[in-house]
Amino acid sequence: MKPLSEKSKGLRQSGIRAASVRCAEVGGINLGQGVCDLPIDDAIKQAAFAAIEQDKSMYSACEGAFALRQRLAKKLKDFNYCDVDPAKELLITHGSTGAFVCAVNTLCNTGDEVILFEPFYGYHKNILGLHHVGVRTVAIDLNDFSIDLNALDNAISAKTKAIVICTPNNPTGKVYSREELEAIGDIAKRHDLWLITDEIYEYITYPGYEHVSIASLKDFKERTLTISGFSKTYNMTGWRLGYVSGPEVVIEKMALIQDLLYVCPATPLQHAVIAALDMDENYYNTMTEGYLQKRDQVVATLRDIGFQVTEPQGAYYLLADFRKLGWHSAQDAVDDLLEKTKVATVAGSAFYQRTSQGQHLIRFCYALQQKKVSQALALLKVLQTPATLCESLAS
Ligand SMILES: Cc1ncc(COP(=O)(O)O)c(C=O)c1O
Repeated sequence: MKPLSEKSKGLRQSGIRAASVRCAEVGGINLGQGVCDLPIDDAIKQAAFAAIEQDKSMYSACEGAFALRQRLAKKLKDFNYCDVDPAKELLITHGSTGAFVCAVNTLCNTGDEVILFEPFYGYHKNILGLHHVGVRTVAIDLNDFSIDLNALDNAISAKTKAIVICTPNNPTGKVYSREELEAIGDIAKRHDLWLITDEIYEYITYPGYEHVSIASLKDFKERTLTISGFSKTYNMTGWRLGYVSGPEVVIEKMALIQDLLYVCPATPLQHAVIAALDMDENYYNTMTEGYLQKRDQVVATLRDIGFQVTEPQGAYYLLADFRKLGWHSAQDAVDDLLEKTKVATVAGSAFYQRTSQGQHLIRFCYALQQKKVSQALALLKVLQTPATLCESLAS
């Protein structure tokens, strides 16, 4: 047999997927993968049934159904304070992941470099890697979520093409402030770089923090691709629908790439999510209140057990430092937790470029239903018993 491609040889199952597989094997509770098991609102389901019944079943335009783009332009204006032309500056994609893949294909050549803030969302790094784009990282300080702007400036080289921002952030829960975004935008402008911003958790921010889209600031819109999607806000990770807005010259090419890769996103579902965008204030408030309650509960329990945790400002993840609990590596901690408590988590090393980093961290995701989160926390409390702790320390 001829060998497989060089590209495929380097691919491994992600730490997140591996944790989910092992969790399913032992029948555990998955606080690893970023999956929310809350139901989709009935109005959206009904809209999907209607779209299928009305035979909205052909390929849409590769840019996406125009009715959805028009509705999204209104959302971008009202929520993100970005004026976007739905005919030229907006693309509906196969999840926000599809938007990121099209962005990388459109902006980057082999050998270019892109800057990620670290810890990062693994798919960003791995998709860049798949396209032979180099990754430079700039640290997020886990004690206070600050970033060092001089370090960002120093990470830029002649090869740098873009800076990626993820706000609200996976895996830390950081929400970038207006001032930080202005400073990052100024740096991007000074070095003539693109900005790619992943805002999929834009509706999940906690009291004291607001979501700001960098494309709404100064004149940054002309160099920014703003990516978001329906997966998280409307509990539909499996529907695979996202979108990206940006300058016409980029969106036009991204649409052509998307056409080649998978033609268009699922047409009936594109029509159905127009109903999602029509949900009222109450929908978003209830969602955020639910996540806020879970955040407080998870933070308090983990701190009681002995984890060190910086309180998330948004999204539904946190990185917990387990150095006081005695495990020797992040994978040891993940394995031991799954064995002793049947709770799945993700090794912190999955969010760093060098595997030696993040070895004192595990990521918890609290997107599951309240009942399951409470059940998982009750199971984790077993770690507080001296016998279990001693065992951990001895191993
Ligand atoms: C930061 C971030 N971006 C994108 C995604 C994937 O989004 P989608 O389902 O829209 O592809 C995730 C999922 O966990 C995420 O955490």
